Amino acid sequence: MTVLSVSTSAAAAQRVDALVIGTAKGPKGLVLAKGAEAVAEAFEGKLAELLTTLGASGAEGEAVKLPAAAGLKAGLVLAVGLGEAAEEGYPAESLRRAAGVAARALSGAKKASLLLPAASAEEFEAVALGALLGAYEYTAYKGDAGKGPVGDLVLLTDRKGSKEAKAAAERATALGEEINRARDLINAAPNDLNPKAFAAIAQAAGKEHGFKVEVWDEKALTKGGFGGILGVGNGSENPPRLVKVAYTHPKAKQTIALVGKGITYDSGGISLKPAGHNETMKCDMSGAAAVFATVVAAKRLGLQVNITTWLALAENMPSGSATRPGDVLKMYGGKTVECLNTDAEGRLVLADAIVRAGEENPDVIIDVATLTGAMVFALGNRTFGVMANNDELRTRLHGTAEAVGEASWPMPLPADMRKGLTESSIADMANMGERMGGGLVAGVFLQEFVAEGTDWAHLDIAGPAFHEGAAYGYTPKGGTGSAIRTLVRFAEDTAAGA
Ligand code: BES
Ligand code: MN
Ligand code: ZN
Repeated sequence: MTVLSVSTSAAAAQRVDALVIGTAKGPKGLVLAKGAEAVAEAFEGKLAELLTTLGASGAEGEAVKLPAAAGLKAGLVLAVGLGEAAEEGYPAESLRRAAGVAARALSGAKKASLLLPAASAEEFEAVALGALLGAYEYTAYKGDAGKGPVGDLVLLTDRKGSKEAKAAAERATALGEEINRARDLINAAPNDLNPKAFAAIAQAAGKEHGFKVEVWDEKALTKGGFGGILGVGNGSENPPRLVKVAYTHPKAKQTIALVGKGITYDSGGISLKPAGHNETMKCDMSGAAAVFATVVAAKRLGLQVNITTWLALAENMPSGSATRPGDVLKMYGGKTVECLNTDAEGRLVLADAIVRAGEENPDVIIDVATLTGAMVFALGNRTFGVMANNDELRTRLHGTAEAVGEASWPMPLPADMRKGLTESSIADMANMGERMGGGLVAGVFLQEFVAEGTDWAHLDIAGPAFHEGAAYGYTPKGGTGSAIRTLVRFAEDTAAGA
Protein backbone atom coordinates (compact mmCIF):
# COMPACT_ATOMS: atom_id res chain seq x y z
CA MET A 1 0.00 0.00 0.00
CA THR A 2 1.15 3.51 -0.76
CA VAL A 3 1.84 5.70 2.28
CA LEU A 4 1.63 9.50 2.10
CA SER A 5 3.67 11.78 4.32
CA VAL A 6 4.47 15.49 4.51
CA SER A 7 7.97 16.90 4.87
CA THR A 8 9.52 20.36 5.04
CA SER A 9 13.07 19.22 4.22
CA ALA A 10 14.89 20.48 1.14
CA ALA A 11 14.29 18.97 -2.29
CA ALA A 12 18.01 18.59 -2.97
CA ALA A 13 18.41 16.47 0.18
CA GLN A 14 15.74 13.89 -0.76
CA ARG A 15 17.23 10.39 -1.02
CA VAL A 16 14.41 9.04 -3.16
CA ASP A 17 13.90 7.19 -6.43
CA ALA A 18 12.33 10.28 -7.99
CA LEU A 19 11.57 13.95 -7.49
CA VAL A 20 8.27 14.91 -9.12
CA ILE A 21 7.89 18.40 -10.58
CA GLY A 22 5.13 20.08 -12.56
CA THR A 23 5.38 21.48 -16.07
CA ALA A 24 2.90 23.52 -18.09
CA LYS A 25 2.27 24.88 -21.56
CA GLY A 26 3.39 28.51 -21.68
CA PRO A 27 2.92 30.87 -24.65
CA LYS A 28 6.47 30.06 -25.84
CA GLY A 29 6.57 26.38 -24.93
CA LEU A 30 7.14 24.32 -21.80
CA VAL A 31 7.50 26.15 -18.50
CA LEU A 32 8.29 24.81 -15.04
CA ALA A 33 5.56 25.15 -12.41
CA LYS A 34 6.18 26.62 -8.95
CA GLY A 35 7.82 24.17 -6.59
CA ALA A 36 10.41 23.05 -9.16
CA GLU A 37 12.89 25.88 -8.33
CA ALA A 38 15.44 23.81 -6.39
CA VAL A 39 15.42 21.07 -9.04
CA ALA A 40 15.77 23.63 -11.83
CA GLU A 41 18.74 25.12 -10.02
CA ALA A 42 20.51 21.76 -9.91
CA PHE A 43 20.11 21.62 -13.71
CA GLU A 44 21.70 25.08 -13.91
CA GLY A 45 18.66 26.63 -15.55
CA LYS A 46 18.62 24.09 -18.42
CA LEU A 47 15.75 21.90 -17.20
CA ALA A 48 12.92 23.35 -19.33
CA GLU A 49 15.15 23.15 -22.39
CA LEU A 50 16.15 19.55 -21.59
CA LEU A 51 12.54 18.48 -21.13
CA THR A 52 11.56 20.14 -24.41
CA THR A 53 14.36 18.25 -26.16
CA LEU A 54 12.89 15.05 -24.71
CA GLY A 55 9.58 15.94 -26.37
CA ALA A 56 7.75 17.32 -23.35
CA SER A 57 5.31 20.20 -23.78
CA GLY A 58 3.63 20.50 -20.36
CA ALA A 59 0.38 19.01 -21.67
CA GLU A 60 -2.03 17.27 -19.29
CA GLY A 61 -1.32 13.55 -18.98
CA GLU A 62 2.36 13.87 -19.90
CA ALA A 63 5.03 12.14 -17.80
CA VAL A 64 8.73 12.46 -18.72
CA LYS A 65 11.63 11.00 -16.74
CA LEU A 66 15.23 12.11 -16.82
CA PRO A 67 18.27 11.30 -14.67
CA ALA A 68 18.71 13.70 -11.77
CA ALA A 69 21.48 16.30 -12.02
CA ALA A 70 24.55 16.32 -9.77
CA GLY A 71 23.71 18.00 -6.48
CA LEU A 72 20.42 16.16 -6.15
CA LYS A 73 20.29 12.99 -4.07
CA ALA A 74 17.35 11.55 -6.03
CA GLY A 75 17.76 8.98 -8.80
CA LEU A 76 15.63 10.74 -11.36
CA VAL A 77 13.34 13.66 -12.01
CA LEU A 78 9.79 12.99 -13.17
CA ALA A 79 8.07 15.92 -14.89
CA VAL A 80 4.28 15.76 -15.17
CA GLY A 81 2.19 18.12 -17.28
CA LEU A 82 -0.47 20.39 -15.78
CA GLY A 83 -1.87 21.74 -19.07
CA GLU A 84 -2.15 25.47 -19.80
CA ALA A 85 0.23 27.53 -17.63
CA ALA A 86 -1.54 29.44 -14.85
CA GLU A 87 -0.24 32.41 -12.88
CA GLU A 88 -2.78 32.26 -10.05
CA GLY A 89 -2.54 28.56 -9.28
CA TYR A 90 -3.86 25.49 -11.06
CA PRO A 91 -7.40 24.09 -10.92
CA ALA A 92 -7.70 21.40 -8.24
CA GLU A 93 -8.66 18.81 -10.84
CA SER A 94 -5.49 19.51 -12.88
CA LEU A 95 -3.42 18.99 -9.73
CA ARG A 96 -5.25 15.77 -8.85
CA ARG A 97 -4.75 14.42 -12.36
CA ALA A 98 -1.07 15.40 -12.58
CA ALA A 99 -0.37 13.83 -9.18
CA GLY A 100 -2.22 10.72 -10.34
CA VAL A 101 -0.18 10.52 -13.54
CA ALA A 102 3.00 10.85 -11.46
CA ALA A 103 1.97 8.11 -9.03
CA ARG A 104 1.19 5.74 -11.92
CA ALA A 105 4.52 6.50 -13.62
CA LEU A 106 6.23 5.61 -10.32
CA SER A 107 4.76 2.10 -10.18
CA GLY A 108 7.42 -0.24 -8.82
CA ALA A 109 9.44 2.54 -7.14
CA LYS A 110 10.10 2.53 -3.38
CA LYS A 111 9.95 6.21 -2.58
CA ALA A 112 9.39 9.54 -4.31
CA SER A 113 8.99 13.17 -3.29
CA LEU A 114 6.44 15.51 -4.87
CA LEU A 115 7.08 19.17 -5.60
CA LEU A 116 3.88 20.07 -7.41
CA PRO A 117 2.56 23.65 -7.16
CA ALA A 118 0.22 23.73 -4.15
CA ALA A 119 -0.04 26.94 -2.17
CA SER A 120 -3.39 26.53 -0.41
CA ALA A 121 -4.59 23.65 1.78
CA GLU A 122 -7.18 22.84 -0.90
CA GLU A 123 -4.49 22.55 -3.58
CA PHE A 124 -2.34 20.46 -1.29
CA GLU A 125 -5.24 18.12 -0.57
CA ALA A 126 -5.85 17.80 -4.32
CA VAL A 127 -2.24 16.73 -4.91
CA ALA A 128 -2.38 14.28 -1.99
CA LEU A 129 -5.65 12.70 -3.11
CA GLY A 130 -4.64 12.51 -6.77
CA ALA A 131 -1.39 10.81 -5.78
CA LEU A 132 -3.08 8.22 -3.57
CA LEU A 133 -5.78 7.47 -6.14
CA GLY A 134 -3.28 7.32 -9.00
CA ALA A 135 -1.02 4.93 -7.10
CA TYR A 136 -3.83 2.38 -6.87
CA GLU A 137 -3.22 -1.02 -8.47
CA TYR A 138 -5.36 -4.11 -8.17
CA THR A 139 -2.99 -7.03 -7.66
CA ALA A 140 -5.08 -9.47 -5.56
CA TYR A 141 -4.98 -12.24 -8.19
CA LYS A 142 -1.56 -11.52 -9.74
CA GLY A 143 1.19 -14.06 -9.13
CA ASP A 144 4.20 -11.94 -10.07
CA ALA A 145 4.67 -9.99 -6.85
CA GLY A 146 7.51 -7.90 -8.29
CA LYS A 147 6.11 -4.46 -9.15
CA GLY A 148 3.09 -3.01 -7.39
CA PRO A 149 2.32 0.58 -6.47
CA VAL A 150 4.93 3.12 -5.34
CA GLY A 151 5.71 2.63 -1.62
CA ASP A 152 6.23 6.04 -0.02
CA LEU A 153 5.10 9.39 -1.38
CA VAL A 154 6.53 12.41 0.41
CA LEU A 155 4.73 15.68 -0.20
CA LEU A 156 7.22 18.51 0.20
CA THR A 157 6.04 21.86 1.51
CA ASP A 158 7.60 25.01 2.91
CA ARG A 159 7.72 25.29 6.69
CA LYS A 160 5.06 28.01 6.73
CA GLY A 161 2.14 25.88 5.62
CA SER A 162 3.22 22.55 7.05
CA LYS A 163 0.55 22.23 9.75
CA GLU A 164 -2.26 22.95 7.29
CA ALA A 165 -0.55 20.70 4.77
CA LYS A 166 -0.40 17.80 7.24
CA ALA A 167 -4.12 18.14 8.00
CA ALA A 168 -4.90 18.25 4.27
CA ALA A 169 -2.82 15.12 3.66
CA GLU A 170 -4.62 13.33 6.49
CA ARG A 171 -8.01 14.19 5.01
CA ALA A 172 -6.87 13.02 1.60
CA THR A 173 -5.56 9.78 3.12
CA ALA A 174 -8.89 8.98 4.82
CA LEU A 175 -10.84 9.64 1.64
CA GLY A 176 -8.32 8.14 -0.78
CA GLU A 177 -7.88 4.91 1.18
CA GLU A 178 -11.65 4.36 1.33
CA ILE A 179 -12.04 5.08 -2.39
CA ASN A 180 -9.28 2.56 -3.07
CA ARG A 181 -10.99 0.02 -0.81
CA ALA A 182 -14.21 0.52 -2.78
CA ARG A 183 -12.22 -0.09 -5.97
CA ASP A 184 -10.95 -3.36 -4.45
CA LEU A 185 -14.54 -4.45 -3.77
CA ILE A 186 -15.61 -3.61 -7.33
CA ASN A 187 -12.59 -5.34 -8.87
CA ALA A 188 -12.91 -8.48 -6.76
CA ALA A 189 -14.06 -11.44 -8.84
CA PRO A 190 -17.77 -12.16 -8.42
CA ASN A 191 -17.08 -15.73 -7.31
CA ASP A 192 -15.30 -14.23 -4.30
CA LEU A 193 -17.48 -11.23 -3.52
CA ASN A 194 -21.05 -12.52 -3.14
CA PRO A 195 -23.73 -10.89 -0.95
CA LYS A 196 -22.72 -12.87 2.14
CA ALA A 197 -19.04 -11.94 1.71
CA PHE A 198 -19.91 -8.25 1.24
CA ALA A 199 -22.09 -8.32 4.37
CA ALA A 200 -19.20 -9.87 6.34
CA ILE A 201 -16.91 -7.04 5.19
CA ALA A 202 -19.49 -4.51 6.41
CA GLN A 203 -19.67 -6.31 9.75
CA ALA A 204 -15.89 -6.24 10.10
CA ALA A 205 -15.91 -2.49 9.37
CA GLY A 206 -18.57 -2.14 12.07
CA LYS A 207 -16.21 -3.75 14.59
CA GLU A 208 -13.28 -1.64 13.46
CA HIS A 209 -15.09 1.71 13.45
CA GLY A 210 -17.79 1.18 16.05
CA PHE A 211 -20.74 1.32 13.64
CA LYS A 212 -23.99 -0.39 14.33
CA VAL A 213 -24.33 -2.99 11.55
CA GLU A 214 -27.52 -4.95 10.97
CA VAL A 215 -27.75 -7.76 8.44
CA TRP A 216 -30.95 -9.29 7.09
CA ASP A 217 -30.21 -12.80 5.76
CA GLU A 218 -32.62 -14.67 3.50
CA LYS A 219 -34.69 -15.81 6.47
CA ALA A 220 -34.99 -12.31 7.91
CA LEU A 221 -35.73 -10.90 4.45
CA THR A 222 -38.54 -13.43 4.02
CA LYS A 223 -39.93 -12.67 7.46
CA GLY A 224 -39.73 -8.93 6.78
CA GLY A 225 -41.41 -9.19 3.36
CA PHE A 226 -38.55 -7.87 1.22
CA GLY A 227 -39.96 -9.27 -2.01
CA GLY A 228 -37.81 -7.15 -4.31
CA ILE A 229 -34.46 -8.23 -2.87
CA LEU A 230 -35.64 -11.85 -2.56
CA GLY A 231 -37.08 -11.87 -6.07
CA VAL A 232 -33.75 -10.82 -7.55
CA GLY A 233 -31.67 -13.12 -5.35
CA ASN A 234 -33.73 -16.30 -5.58
CA GLY A 235 -32.08 -17.58 -8.75
CA SER A 236 -28.68 -17.76 -7.11
CA GLU A 237 -26.93 -20.31 -4.90
CA ASN A 238 -25.65 -17.25 -3.02
CA PRO A 239 -28.61 -15.80 -1.12
CA PRO A 240 -29.22 -12.05 -0.88
CA ARG A 241 -28.60 -9.71 2.05
CA LEU A 242 -29.76 -6.31 3.19
CA VAL A 243 -27.18 -4.51 5.32
CA LYS A 244 -27.63 -1.37 7.40
CA VAL A 245 -24.54 0.49 8.54
CA ALA A 246 -25.21 3.40 10.87
CA TYR A 247 -22.72 6.14 11.73
CA THR A 248 -23.93 8.64 14.28
CA HIS A 249 -22.28 11.77 15.62
CA PRO A 250 -23.41 13.11 19.02
CA LYS A 251 -23.59 16.67 17.65
CA ALA A 252 -25.29 15.77 14.38
CA LYS A 253 -28.29 17.85 13.35
CA GLN A 254 -29.16 15.94 10.19
CA THR A 255 -29.39 12.35 9.02
CA ILE A 256 -28.49 11.28 5.51
CA ALA A 257 -29.69 7.90 4.25
CA LEU A 258 -27.58 6.36 1.48
CA VAL A 259 -28.87 3.39 -0.49
CA GLY A 260 -26.53 1.40 -2.74
CA LYS A 261 -27.31 -1.07 -5.51
CA GLY A 262 -25.28 -4.13 -4.63
CA ILE A 263 -25.75 -6.69 -7.38
CA THR A 264 -22.53 -8.67 -6.91
CA TYR A 265 -23.06 -10.14 -10.37
CA ASP A 266 -25.71 -9.25 -12.95
CA SER A 267 -26.16 -12.03 -15.47
CA GLY A 268 -29.57 -10.59 -16.37
CA GLY A 269 -31.33 -13.57 -14.79
CA ILE A 270 -33.83 -15.43 -17.00
CA SER A 271 -33.77 -12.35 -19.27
CA LEU A 272 -30.12 -13.34 -19.73
CA LYS A 273 -27.64 -10.81 -21.04
CA PRO A 274 -25.90 -11.87 -24.26
CA ALA A 275 -22.14 -12.43 -24.35
CA GLY A 276 -20.45 -9.06 -24.70
CA HIS A 277 -22.72 -7.54 -22.07
CA ASN A 278 -21.91 -9.57 -18.98
CA GLU A 279 -18.10 -9.61 -18.74
CA THR A 280 -17.93 -6.52 -16.54
CA MET A 281 -21.10 -7.12 -14.55
CA LYS A 282 -19.20 -7.74 -11.33
CA CYS A 283 -19.21 -3.93 -11.23
CA ASP A 284 -22.97 -3.91 -10.56
CA MET A 285 -22.32 -3.47 -6.83
CA SER A 286 -20.45 -0.18 -7.37
CA GLY A 287 -23.30 1.82 -5.80
CA ALA A 288 -23.16 -0.28 -2.64
CA ALA A 289 -19.35 0.03 -2.59
CA ALA A 290 -19.69 3.82 -2.95
CA VAL A 291 -22.13 4.31 -0.08
CA PHE A 292 -20.16 1.91 2.12
CA ALA A 293 -16.92 3.80 1.45
CA THR A 294 -18.70 7.08 2.17
CA VAL A 295 -19.88 6.05 5.62
CA VAL A 296 -16.42 4.77 6.57
CA ALA A 297 -14.73 7.92 5.25
CA ALA A 298 -17.25 10.09 7.13
CA LYS A 299 -16.38 8.25 10.33
CA ARG A 300 -12.63 8.63 9.75
CA LEU A 301 -13.15 12.34 9.07
CA GLY A 302 -15.36 12.68 12.15
CA LEU A 303 -18.14 14.48 10.26
CA GLN A 304 -20.89 15.97 12.43
CA VAL A 305 -23.74 14.28 10.66
CA ASN A 306 -25.55 10.95 10.93
CA ILE A 307 -25.24 8.64 7.94
CA THR A 308 -27.30 5.49 7.60
CA THR A 309 -26.18 3.32 4.74
CA TRP A 310 -28.25 0.57 3.18
CA LEU A 311 -26.56 -2.07 1.03
CA ALA A 312 -29.08 -3.96 -1.14
CA LEU A 313 -27.05 -7.08 -1.99
CA ALA A 314 -28.07 -9.87 -4.36
CA GLU A 315 -26.68 -11.98 -7.17
CA ASN A 316 -28.86 -11.94 -10.30
CA MET A 317 -28.67 -15.45 -11.79
CA PRO A 318 -30.87 -17.68 -13.95
CA SER A 319 -31.94 -21.04 -12.52
CA GLY A 320 -34.96 -23.20 -11.78
CA SER A 321 -35.71 -21.08 -8.74
CA ALA A 322 -35.14 -17.74 -10.47
CA THR A 323 -37.86 -15.14 -10.91
CA ARG A 324 -39.53 -15.53 -14.33
CA PRO A 325 -40.43 -12.65 -16.61
CA GLY A 326 -44.12 -12.39 -15.72
CA ASP A 327 -43.81 -13.15 -12.02
CA VAL A 328 -45.38 -10.70 -9.59
CA LEU A 329 -43.30 -9.69 -6.59
CA LYS A 330 -44.68 -8.28 -3.36
CA MET A 331 -42.28 -5.53 -2.44
CA TYR A 332 -41.35 -4.32 1.03
CA GLY A 333 -44.12 -1.92 2.03
CA GLY A 334 -46.80 -3.84 0.12
CA LYS A 335 -46.70 -2.64 -3.52
CA THR A 336 -46.82 -5.38 -6.14
CA VAL A 337 -44.51 -5.36 -9.14
CA GLU A 338 -44.82 -7.45 -12.27
CA CYS A 339 -41.26 -8.41 -13.19
CA LEU A 340 -41.39 -8.26 -16.99
CA ASN A 341 -37.62 -8.23 -17.43
CA THR A 342 -35.37 -9.86 -14.85
CA ASP A 343 -32.47 -7.76 -16.11
CA ALA A 344 -34.17 -4.66 -14.68
CA GLU A 345 -33.23 -5.97 -11.23
CA GLY A 346 -31.47 -2.98 -9.72
CA ARG A 347 -34.67 -1.01 -9.27
CA LEU A 348 -36.24 -4.01 -7.48
CA VAL A 349 -33.57 -4.32 -4.78
CA LEU A 350 -33.34 -0.53 -4.45
CA ALA A 351 -37.11 -0.12 -4.07
CA ASP A 352 -37.16 -2.39 -0.98
CA ALA A 353 -34.18 -0.59 0.53
CA ILE A 354 -35.58 2.88 -0.23
CA VAL A 355 -38.87 2.03 1.50
CA ARG A 356 -37.01 0.60 4.51
CA ALA A 357 -34.69 3.64 4.65
CA GLY A 358 -37.71 5.97 4.48
CA GLU A 359 -39.26 4.37 7.58
CA GLU A 360 -36.57 6.04 9.67
CA ASN A 361 -37.48 9.54 8.44
CA PRO A 362 -34.04 10.69 7.29
CA ASP A 363 -33.61 14.29 6.11
CA VAL A 364 -32.63 13.03 2.69
CA ILE A 365 -32.27 9.73 0.82
CA ILE A 366 -29.66 9.38 -1.90
CA ASP A 367 -29.43 6.15 -3.85
CA VAL A 368 -26.41 5.26 -5.96
CA ALA A 369 -26.63 2.62 -8.67
CA THR A 370 -25.16 1.25 -11.87
CA LEU A 371 -28.78 1.24 -12.94
CA THR A 372 -29.19 1.54 -16.70
CA GLY A 373 -27.36 1.11 -19.97
CA ALA A 374 -29.59 3.94 -21.20
CA MET A 375 -27.78 6.40 -18.92
CA VAL A 376 -24.50 5.32 -20.51
CA PHE A 377 -25.99 5.99 -23.97
CA ALA A 378 -27.15 9.41 -22.78
CA LEU A 379 -24.10 10.66 -20.88
CA GLY A 380 -21.21 8.41 -21.91
CA ASN A 381 -18.62 6.61 -19.85
CA ARG A 382 -17.40 9.38 -17.56
CA THR A 383 -20.52 11.24 -16.42
CA PHE A 384 -23.18 10.12 -13.97
CA GLY A 385 -26.80 11.25 -14.07
CA VAL A 386 -28.40 13.10 -11.16
CA MET A 387 -32.16 12.85 -10.67
CA ALA A 388 -34.22 14.06 -7.71
CA ASN A 389 -37.76 14.74 -6.53
CA ASN A 390 -36.57 18.19 -5.48
CA ASP A 391 -34.93 20.67 -7.90
CA GLU A 392 -32.79 22.27 -5.23
CA LEU A 393 -31.34 18.93 -4.12
CA ARG A 394 -30.56 17.93 -7.71
CA THR A 395 -28.85 21.26 -8.38
CA ARG A 396 -26.92 21.00 -5.14
CA LEU A 397 -25.64 17.47 -5.90
CA HIS A 398 -24.59 18.48 -9.41
CA GLY A 399 -22.69 21.42 -7.92
CA THR A 400 -21.11 19.24 -5.23
CA ALA A 401 -19.88 16.79 -7.87
CA GLU A 402 -18.40 19.64 -9.90
CA ALA A 403 -16.67 21.05 -6.82
CA VAL A 404 -14.85 17.75 -6.18
CA GLY A 405 -13.99 17.11 -9.83
CA GLU A 406 -16.59 14.43 -10.65
CA ALA A 407 -18.50 14.78 -13.92
CA SER A 408 -22.28 14.60 -13.53
CA TRP A 409 -25.35 16.03 -15.21
CA PRO A 410 -28.89 16.82 -14.02
CA MET A 411 -31.57 14.63 -15.61
CA PRO A 412 -35.37 14.95 -15.37
CA LEU A 413 -38.01 12.61 -13.95
CA PRO A 414 -40.81 13.20 -16.51
CA ALA A 415 -44.18 12.70 -14.84
CA ASP A 416 -45.71 11.19 -18.00
CA MET A 417 -43.34 8.23 -17.80
CA ARG A 418 -45.22 6.94 -14.77
CA LYS A 419 -48.04 5.78 -17.08
CA GLY A 420 -45.92 3.22 -18.88
CA LEU A 421 -44.94 1.68 -15.57
CA THR A 422 -48.34 1.56 -13.90
CA GLU A 423 -51.10 1.27 -16.49
CA SER A 424 -49.80 -1.66 -18.51
CA SER A 425 -49.46 -4.12 -15.67
CA ILE A 426 -51.65 -6.66 -13.89
CA ALA A 427 -49.88 -5.51 -10.70
CA ASP A 428 -49.49 -2.05 -9.14
CA MET A 429 -46.50 -1.54 -11.43
CA ALA A 430 -44.25 -3.25 -13.93
CA ASN A 431 -40.46 -3.09 -13.65
CA MET A 432 -40.26 -2.02 -17.32
CA GLY A 433 -41.78 1.04 -18.91
CA GLU A 434 -41.40 2.75 -22.25
CA ARG A 435 -38.21 1.97 -24.13
CA MET A 436 -37.03 5.51 -24.81
CA GLY A 437 -35.32 7.39 -22.01
CA GLY A 438 -34.73 4.18 -20.06
CA GLY A 439 -32.52 5.89 -17.48
CA LEU A 440 -35.31 8.27 -16.58
CA VAL A 441 -37.94 5.49 -16.56
CA ALA A 442 -35.83 3.70 -13.94
CA GLY A 443 -35.67 6.90 -11.88
CA VAL A 444 -39.45 7.36 -12.15
CA PHE A 445 -39.88 3.74 -10.97
CA LEU A 446 -37.74 4.39 -7.87
CA GLN A 447 -39.58 7.62 -7.11
CA GLU A 448 -42.74 5.58 -6.50
CA PHE A 449 -41.07 4.03 -3.43
CA VAL A 450 -39.97 7.26 -1.77
CA ALA A 451 -42.01 8.20 1.29
CA GLU A 452 -44.27 11.21 0.78
CA GLY A 453 -42.46 14.42 1.75
CA THR A 454 -38.96 12.90 1.82
CA ASP A 455 -36.23 14.53 -0.25
CA TRP A 456 -34.65 11.94 -2.50
CA ALA A 457 -31.99 11.88 -5.18
CA HIS A 458 -30.80 9.12 -7.49
CA LEU A 459 -27.30 8.90 -8.98
CA ASP A 460 -27.04 6.57 -12.00
CA ILE A 461 -23.32 5.78 -12.17
CA ALA A 462 -23.55 3.02 -14.82
CA GLY A 463 -21.13 4.96 -17.08
CA PRO A 464 -18.29 6.05 -14.79
CA ALA A 465 -18.34 3.22 -12.20
CA PHE A 466 -16.10 0.90 -14.18
CA HIS A 467 -13.38 2.10 -16.55
CA GLU A 468 -12.61 -0.28 -19.40
CA GLY A 469 -9.99 1.79 -21.25
CA ALA A 470 -6.41 2.60 -20.31
CA ALA A 471 -5.78 4.42 -17.04
CA TYR A 472 -5.70 8.23 -17.18
CA GLY A 473 -5.03 10.88 -14.52
CA TYR A 474 -5.89 9.25 -11.20
CA THR A 475 -8.47 6.91 -12.78
CA PRO A 476 -7.32 3.29 -13.07
CA LYS A 477 -8.65 0.56 -15.30
CA GLY A 478 -11.55 -1.23 -13.58
CA GLY A 479 -13.48 0.03 -10.56
CA THR A 480 -13.17 3.80 -10.18
CA GLY A 481 -14.92 4.63 -6.91
CA SER A 482 -17.35 6.93 -8.72
CA ALA A 483 -19.61 9.20 -6.59
CA ILE A 484 -17.71 8.72 -3.30
CA ARG A 485 -16.04 12.12 -3.40
CA THR A 486 -19.39 13.74 -4.19
CA LEU A 487 -21.16 11.95 -1.34
CA VAL A 488 -18.44 12.71 1.21
CA ARG A 489 -18.45 16.40 0.23
CA PHE A 490 -22.26 16.40 0.40
CA ALA A 491 -22.00 14.99 3.94
CA GLU A 492 -19.35 17.58 4.88
CA ASP A 493 -21.54 20.41 3.59
CA THR A 494 -24.54 18.97 5.45
CA ALA A 495 -22.48 18.77 8.65
CA ALA A 496 -21.55 22.42 8.12
CA GLY A 497 -25.22 23.35 7.96
CA ALA A 498 -26.10 23.11 4.25
N1 BES B 1 -26.63 -3.40 -14.42
C1 BES B 1 -27.38 -3.07 -15.57
C2 BES B 1 -27.05 -1.67 -16.11
C3 BES B 1 -25.64 -1.43 -16.59
C4 BES B 1 -25.37 -1.43 -17.93
C5 BES B 1 -24.63 -1.13 -15.70
C6 BES B 1 -24.09 -1.17 -18.39
C7 BES B 1 -23.34 -0.86 -16.16
C8 BES B 1 -23.07 -0.88 -17.51
C9 BES B 1 -28.86 -3.10 -15.25
O1 BES B 1 -29.25 -4.03 -14.29
C10 BES B 1 -29.59 -3.47 -16.50
O2 BES B 1 -29.39 -4.55 -16.97
N2 BES B 1 -30.45 -2.57 -16.99
C11 BES B 1 -31.21 -2.79 -18.16
C12 BES B 1 -32.62 -2.35 -17.89
C13 BES B 1 -33.59 -2.75 -18.97
C14 BES B 1 -33.76 -4.25 -18.99
C15 BES B 1 -34.91 -2.06 -18.69
C16 BES B 1 -30.57 -2.00 -19.30
O3 BES B 1 -30.12 -0.89 -19.05
O4 BES B 1 -30.50 -2.52 -20.39
MN1 MN C 1 -29.59 -5.96 -15.10
ZN1 ZN D 1 -27.83 -4.50 -12.89
